[in-house]
Amino acid sequence: MPPIVKIIAADICQSDGSTILKNVNLEIGAGEFTYLIGKTGSGKTSLLKTIYAALPLYIGAGEVAGFNLKDVTRRNVHLLRRKLGIVFQDFNLLTDRNIADNLLFVLRATGWNDHASMHNRIGEVLQEVGLLSKRNAMPFELSGGEQQRVVIARALLNKPPLILADEPTGNLDPETSDDVLTLLRNLAKQHKTAVICATHDYRILQNFPARIVRIQKGRLIDD
Ligand SMILES: Nc1ncnc2c1ncn2[C@@H]1O[C@H](COP(=O)(O)OP(=O)(O)O)[C@@H](O)[C@H]1O
Ligand SMILES: [Mg+2]
Repeated sequence: MPPIVKIIAADICQSDGSTILKNVNLEIGAGEFTYLIGKTGSGKTSLLKTIYAALPLYIGAGEVAGFNLKDVTRRNVHLLRRKLGIVFQDFNLLTDRNIADNLLFVLRATGWNDHASMHNRIGEVLQEVGLLSKRNAMPFELSGGEQQRVVIARALLNKPPLILADEPTGNLDPETSDDVLTLLRNLAKQHKTAVICATHDYRILQNFPARIVRIQKGRLIDD
């Protein structure tokens, strides 16, 4: 299996042109779970944004899920995004619609149109995160942990080979964080999904050990 992420000698730059990280080399194998750690402001989110092509890659090379990052444009970025599941710290559920409709929104936006298959898929992913009974609930009716599980369900919709999780436990208490990590780890293993999980939560690194890459002084270091 080719690696799901391969970044070679890349500079990670912000949209204002400032360089955040220099000479980044990173290879993530298919199905591999990797933590990305580093202090606040060290560039974890910037690196993840480069991987999902929200920040441009000018210097160096990058390939993600078979897409050359230099070939990704505004017009074809949806093809890359369909291969990625994205789980952020703040849950980003649309507050004006129920859980099923939140998932429906993503399916429509990623090119699904058959009603029966969309509803089937929504049922499947909610089942996987144990929230089928909440399909008609509004986001505000769910706890933080439940909302984050919906976000994980949402990330699974298109069966992506790679999930990017940006501080997925940042807003959760320790026990709920463990539940969310357990779920993410189990699903990733079951579906052979690679995960890059940015975190500065050292507790989850201890409780759920995996490969760690670290950002230190503007460099990416493979531990
Ligand atoms: N939208 C932005 N425009 C310019 N600079 C930014 C932007 N977002 C973050 N930065 C800067 O990029 C650096 C890395 O930030 P970030 O990638 O968010 O780090 P982390 O996720 O590790 O906290 C910081 O110095 C931050 O100030
Ligand atoms: Mg961040």
